[in-house]
Amino acid sequence: MAGGHSRPDHYSQRARREGYQARSVYKLQEMQQKLGLIRADSRVLDLGAAPGSWSRYVLEILDQRGRLVAADLSPLELAPDPRLAVLELDILSQGFVTIVSRHGPFDVVLSDAAPATTGDRTVDTARSATLVESILHGLPHYLAPGGDLAVKIFQGGQEQFLLRGLRSAFQNARAFKPRACRKGSFETYLIGIGYGGEEALS
Ligand SMILES: C[S@@+](CC[C@H](N)C(=O)[O-])C[C@H]1O[C@@H](n2cnc3c(N)ncnc32)[C@H](O)[C@@H]1O
Repeated sequence: MAGGHSRPDHYSQRARREGYQARSVYKLQEMQQKLGLIRADSRVLDLGAAPGSWSRYVLEILDQRGRLVAADLSPLELAPDPRLAVLELDILSQGFVTIVSRHGPFDVVLSDAAPATTGDRTVDTARSATLVESILHGLPHYLAPGGDLAVKIFQGGQEQFLLRGLRSAFQNARAFKPRACRKGSFETYLIGIGYGGEEALS
């Protein structure tokens, strides 16, 4: 995660108290409160989902009509749920789009995926952008027309270019930095509302 850290802050303590696997949940909560991305009957794809706090929060919003597919390189710490399918997958692997699209289409695509940071900001931002590009290329295969996207990206690299791509593929697109991002962190989220069904990058 961006912006080196060690001591538990307010959000980490709150996550522990409220039984969430990670403090990241408050970033999604803030985006949800501002943008209302997820509805009770949404079909949601959560990428980079481990250890599972976003997925747990999504399941709290969904009723029995909703569906969640959570994908990560690592296993999730989440109780089995009939609405949930977990895929242990590399977003950058060749078969990723094919496998994920078999579970789609989705109304909402979320990604909190982040590369393991090296401390070299140029390397880290480039790796983060590669993840985002890969997700954007897959959208026509798994995001339903009219659907929404929230995807994490490290700032200082490709984010303006990628945001322009989102502006052409979605009715509305913007960057959004939740208050719960760590102080000094260089992550932000690219948001797309109302997908038009086209390639976001061409
Ligand atoms: C910040 S954590 C996500 C936290 C999660 N949203 C939560 O609330 O518990 C970032 C995740 O991205 C995953 N990740 C990084 N690169 C990935 C890749 N190429 N494919 C799949 N997952 C990846 C990591 O394994 C890590 O679990």
